[in-house]
Parts: sequence; structure tokens; C-alpha cells
Amino acid sequence: MSRIAYVNGRYLRHAEAGVHIEDRGYQFSDGVYEVCGVRGGQLMDEDYHLERLERSLRELRIAMPMAMRALRLVLREVVRSNGISDGMVYLQVTRGVAKRDHPFPNPAVRPALVITAKGLNLAKIAQAVAQGVAVVTMPDQRWARRDIKSISLLANILAKQSAREAGAYEAWLVDQDGFVTEGSSTNAWIVDTEGRVITRPLSADILPGVTRRVLLEAAAREGIEVVERPFTVDEARHAREAFISACTAIIMPVVKVDSQVIGNGAPGSITMRLRAAYDYATQTGRE
Ligand code: PDD
Repeated sequence: MSRIAYVNGRYLRHAEAGVHIEDRGYQFSDGVYEVCGVRGGQLMDEDYHLERLERSLRELRIAMPMAMRALRLVLREVVRSNGISDGMVYLQVTRGVAKRDHPFPNPAVRPALVITAKGLNLAKIAQAVAQGVAVVTMPDQRWARRDIKSISLLANILAKQSAREAGAYEAWLVDQDGFVTEGSSTNAWIVDTEGRVITRPLSADILPGVTRRVLLEAAAREGIEVVERPFTVDEARHAREAFISACTAIIMPVVKVDSQVIGNGAPGSITMRLRAAYDYATQTGRE
């Protein structure tokens, strides 16, 4: 099946789809995005992703590119036309096309919308979950508004690349006071020796992860104690368990932080309990 991309009102063959060279996303990273997981052909946690999209756009004073109802239909159509059962849908909105100039175009131009989808290999993810992954810590070099899901990801990709070159799966980014903010494309969690789950509270320092939000709800249902507070690299190295969350793999156990093995080097029991508690079936199709 050939891939299809939605670009500004049209469904195009992926290989031939393109945007204008003066799209402000291309020239200034002036835009936002969302990634939404797909399981069994259904969008996971769609409402939460769209809520965050609206917030990101509002913060950057970019208009919604189309009515929400229509956007939901287009997302479904992209998933369907690409024949995606398990995977993810990517949505990007930029401020639009205008002659290159730093201020917002005046009068405003139409925001540009691109949506693509791709399949994910769930067996490969399950294999990584069973083994756990390594993370390495490094300074957080991003801008001060990480709560906005901006397409400007230079510091994130540099961190991810450093992690991969160090043989790790993810980079944990560390603020000036030695506290972990989050991963380069995931939220960061530890479980302390008392079995409490710890994750950084929401602020401009981190992305308000949708998976984070759903996991907090799941933990409350399960009676798992969660403390929202920053944790240091040292705490992470001495944690009983650690994990990362994102909509693509939901929870990935972390079994190594820098050179320190976490717990007994295998995915932790609370981590796996939370993973099981994340019941995506109940999160789909809320309209
Ligand atoms: N990344 N923190 C950052 C910096 C992220 O980029 C992401 C998601 C998350 C987790 O958010 P969520 O649970 O809503 O997926 C946290 C996506 C998957 C990406 O950039 O591809």
C-alpha cells in the first residue's frame, strides 16, 4: 500500500508530497506538532492530544488550521488510507507561508497543516520492554518553553544522537540544579526504595506528556503512590526502578542510568504494573 500524506487540504502520495519553501515551519521552526499512538486502527488518547495541540497553538498565537470535528475526520482518514493498525499519526501545524521576515505575517496567513502516519513494530517494542533500556544523562540545552510542543527540536535531536552514540536508548536531560527534566522525546520517571513513583511536576520545564497524564490516572486507579517532584541524577542512579513514557511505546523500563545498573538490572515490578494498567482501549474513541 503506498503511503498517503495530508497536506493543506489534499491527500497526496507521500513520496510526492511537499510544502512551500517559505513555509515558516521550514524557515523558523515556527510551528507545533502532535504524535498520537494508533492501536488496532484506533487513535489513542485523541482528546488529550488535541487538547494539547490547541494549547500549543494558543501559546504561539497560531490559529487552528481547521475545525476540530474536521481535524478528527482527517486524522482517521490518514490512518485508514495508510492501512495503519499499530503505529502513530504525526500532525504538524505551522504559522503558514510568507516572505521570510521574523515578525508574524501581517495580515495573518493560513496556518499550514501536514498529517502523516506510519506503522510501528510492536514486537520490537515488546522485546525492548522485556529487556529494558539504558539512558545517559546530559545537560538540558533546550529553550525555556518546553511545555509547548514546538517543532523546534534541535537540542532534543542532538541529545538523542549523543545517547545513541553512547549506546543508550534515550538521553535524560538535566537542569542547572542537577535535576532531571525529562527525556529528549519522553517523560522521565523513577521508583524510590519505598516504592513511590516519582516524576517531575508540570511546568515550562517539561512537555505535559499525554502518556504521563494517562499514567497518573492509571496509578490513581491502581492505588500506586505517585509524588510529583523533581529528582536528581543521583537519586535516579540509586532508584529501585526507572522508566520513560511516550505515546509510541507507552512505558519503556530503564535498567541503566549512565553506568549505574538500576535495581537488579531487569524491568521493575511497579513499572510493569503501570504498563499493564495503561489500558488504551478505554482511552480510544472519546468524542
Ligand atoms: N515525543 N517529552 C518530550 C520532549 C517529548 O517529545 C515527548 C513525546 C514526550 C512524551 O509525550 P507523550 O506522552 O504525549 O507522547 C515527553 C513524541 C512522541 C515525538 O517527539 O516523537
